[in-house]
Amino acid sequence: MKTAAVRGFRDILPEESALWQMLVTQARTSFAAYGFSEIIVPILEKTDLFARAIGETTDIVEKEMYTFPDRDESSLTLRPEGTASVIRAYIEHSLHQKEPVSKLFYIGPMFRRERPQKGRYRQFHQIGAEILGRDDPLIDAELLLMLHDFFVALQLEVTLDINSLGCPTCRPGYREQLRAFGESKLAALCEDCHSRLNRNPLRLLDCKKDGCRQATAQAPALADSLCDPCRTHFTSVQERLRQEQVRIVVNPRLVRGLDYYCRTSFEILAEGLGSQNAVCGGGRYDGLVEQLGGPAIPGIGFAIGVERLAMLIQAQNRDFATPPEVFIAPLGAAAEHQAFAVARRLRSSGYRVELESGGRGLKAQMRRADKLAARHVLILGEDELAAGKGTVRDMQTKTDRPMSVDLSLATPDLMNAIRNAGN
Ligand code: HAM
Repeated sequence: MKTAAVRGFRDILPEESALWQMLVTQARTSFAAYGFSEIIVPILEKTDLFARAIGETTDIVEKEMYTFPDRDESSLTLRPEGTASVIRAYIEHSLHQKEPVSKLFYIGPMFRRERPQKGRYRQFHQIGAEILGRDDPLIDAELLLMLHDFFVALQLEVTLDINSLGCPTCRPGYREQLRAFGESKLAALCEDCHSRLNRNPLRLLDCKKDGCRQATAQAPALADSLCDPCRTHFTSVQERLRQEQVRIVVNPRLVRGLDYYCRTSFEILAEGLGSQNAVCGGGRYDGLVEQLGGPAIPGIGFAIGVERLAMLIQAQNRDFATPPEVFIAPLGAAAEHQAFAVARRLRSSGYRVELESGGRGLKAQMRRADKLAARHVLILGEDELAAGKGTVRDMQTKTDRPMSVDLSLATPDLMNAIRNAGN
């Protein structure tokens, strides 16, 4: 009997991993331009960290975490997101004492036991970034600008949905307003919203069901309840982004599924992803470091879902494969021997080389070179080898005039000769 992967866990096969590499490389480049450094945190944490950071009554903590007892009975959890771990590490290593502002990014797998569907997996990957140490609106704008630049570099046009979720001064009053509003619409709300009403009324705005959306269409907007500092902060973030021509839409219904957010919150929703259309989410979390036992240090961050981002790029039909630059086709045992040495020489100078073995005929080898989209084939026949030469065929121009190259040339000259043959 064959064993299949666990439901909701997928393999990233080579044809897709080339695209993933490109995404990760671009993230590293875009984030480095803004002064971010990579932090690598464990996949496993004490359960308590997520319960405290994300919120006991969120869907993630209530029903989606992979939690299990360790052998000593302590409770461990596979991380459902990266922010809590980054902050745990930030506090544990007193990073705030080393630098006034920490700009950190991370890349890796996250685990949530959600119902799998297109774009939603139980193991998925995030590219995330966090800025700790400043609550200036300029920081919010800078982070969002970086996110925008990253998507532009990937040739993706996106719009940022943003909202302000207020702060502990203004949000409690709004929550009560919304709760009262919800009570007045009780009959029209779904069962989930009934329980949201008491636990986290803001999530009423987030329900996808038509009935609930209609019932809450006239709900009071958080924007009207913001205190003056939150209002000024939000206006300033928007001004800076508009000044830089970042496409933003203020979405008063935007609330987030994790409890730690305040003030600026945002999502990038993309077309063509089906119902799982959020490719990125994030926001400010000014009380979180303190809540997790650290000093009162503000923070803001985001995480991009790599699977969903990859789906957007795949829809553009771009090719990210890195085919061999040279395919070496030896004919006969002695040639194979020699081919082995030539391949080693070219590879150690950094060229991508595919070496055929197994004594197959020229036709079969050419078919494989074609399939791999190799640019040049270096054919090593026994007669020519005796003269220290090989024959090059340019697979792009498909010239009928294969060229002879001298194998005794120094590596860079040999590579040049291979590249120029057939031109
Ligand atoms: P989140 O909105 O829960 O935020 O997740 C961020 C992104 O991860 C989503 O927009 C989506 O693209 C992707 N994602 C989430 N769940 C799944 C899934 N089951 N399958 C595939 N992709 C998924 C956070 O995780 C916050 N930690 C972001 C943040 C960082 N906020 C501040 N700093």
